[in-house]
Amino acid sequence: MTAPIPPLLLVIFGATGDLTRRKLLPALGALHARGELPSPFVILGVARDPHPDDAAFRDIARASLSQLGDAAVHYQSIGAGSPADFTRIADDIAALEREHGLSGNRVFYLALPPQGFVETVEGLAAAGLHQSAGFTRIVVEKPFGHDLESSQALNRRLHQYFDESQIFRIDHYLGKETVRNLMVFRFANPVFETQWNRDRIAHVEISVAEADGVGTRAAYYDRAGAVRDMVQNHLTQLLCHVAMEPPATFDAEAIRDEKLKVLRSMRRVTPRDALLAQYAGGSVDDTAVPGYLDEPGVKPGSTTETFAAIDVHIDNWRWHGVPFVLRTGKRLRRRSTRIVVSFRPAPVRLFTGLPGCDVGPDKLTIFIQPDEGFSLTFSVKEPGEHIRVREQQLGFKYREAFGPLADAYETLLADVMQGDHTLFVRSDWVERSWYLYAPLLEAPPAPVPYRPGSWGPDAEP
Ligand code: BG6
Repeated sequence: MTAPIPPLLLVIFGATGDLTRRKLLPALGALHARGELPSPFVILGVARDPHPDDAAFRDIARASLSQLGDAAVHYQSIGAGSPADFTRIADDIAALEREHGLSGNRVFYLALPPQGFVETVEGLAAAGLHQSAGFTRIVVEKPFGHDLESSQALNRRLHQYFDESQIFRIDHYLGKETVRNLMVFRFANPVFETQWNRDRIAHVEISVAEADGVGTRAAYYDRAGAVRDMVQNHLTQLLCHVAMEPPATFDAEAIRDEKLKVLRSMRRVTPRDALLAQYAGGSVDDTAVPGYLDEPGVKPGSTTETFAAIDVHIDNWRWHGVPFVLRTGKRLRRRSTRIVVSFRPAPVRLFTGLPGCDVGPDKLTIFIQPDEGFSLTFSVKEPGEHIRVREQQLGFKYREAFGPLADAYETLLADVMQGDHTLFVRSDWVERSWYLYAPLLEAPPAPVPYRPGSWGPDAEP
């Protein structure tokens, strides 16, 4: 933790929704249990639902916030979201701040579907809630638009009322400990950093495999697909952490500048660079699972991809000529997010070709989740009279060294409340990233089918 969190009012729009229940409240509960929440600290839950009152919302919150005490948790219905409703919220906020002796520090968390962003931002501004006597911050969740144009429009809207320094765009991958560790791993360990370039590295693969299918989210996912849902944001963020130059300092803007520079050097992604696929029906571990087209809410004949493998090229001094492959898919063999860095082979292959010498290039695998850690694969001589070479691993597991890791939302919420932008997505990054994928998104190749429970379609670009 960088600095203590100052006393503040946290207003959660979408307070009865899934994200609040599954992520935000448990994260606040964990911060509270560690004594990291300030006093006073007041939560105002806001949602359309007219029924929950303070007590009912406290019930929702209780499981996570049992020790916080009832006084700090309140609920207000936003009704239809009319200007009068926002004025009522403004009055409520003023009353709560008076009651708890708060000085006007406010965080507005929009835990809302994207259709709700703009009207909430406008409602806040119309009620004068975009500024206060203390700090006012606004937190938005992905998706940040659907393409380049809509992301620019969304940023323009946000910037009409809020300065970029007030905006915290969440990509929850950036809050994962193992993703945060990428920078430490690279820049605190010269032994790796000196190898981290086109002379030493042959290729890099970044993959996020999920075992689950689309579940109940087809209404959103069928319009998005794997490229919009995962590649443009999470995987491209991982790519930036692997490829970025060391920042001049460890402050948020220096780091975010370096990440943007990676995107500036990246070639635009065309349909030729991508293999898209969609999961078919079948059985996984003897259990029948529906194909994507049979999932509830998916449009008949939908061509939305649930898998993408994309070749990415970064044309800068460090990476020119090193292929990066980004892969992600749903309904794959198992949940696994990893980065595999394959080093170039030895210049003279003394052992390759000898009987029993199965020598591959050295490989560094960074396990983002689950089973967080890394392993370095290298070659050793098998004991015995003859030279036989085998692969072995040097490894490190977070769980063994430090126990279970905190959820990303604990880190991200604490950072918002402390005002640290390092792990949040800047507007120029979002727009550049959409720009890079636009050629692919405008003319996506038809998806090929793949077997559920497999590692994806056989042929890759
Ligand atoms: C979300 C996507 O952003 O990330 C989901 O919308 C995906 O489709 C999820 O399942 C994956 O997150 P995690 O943390 O489980 O890897």
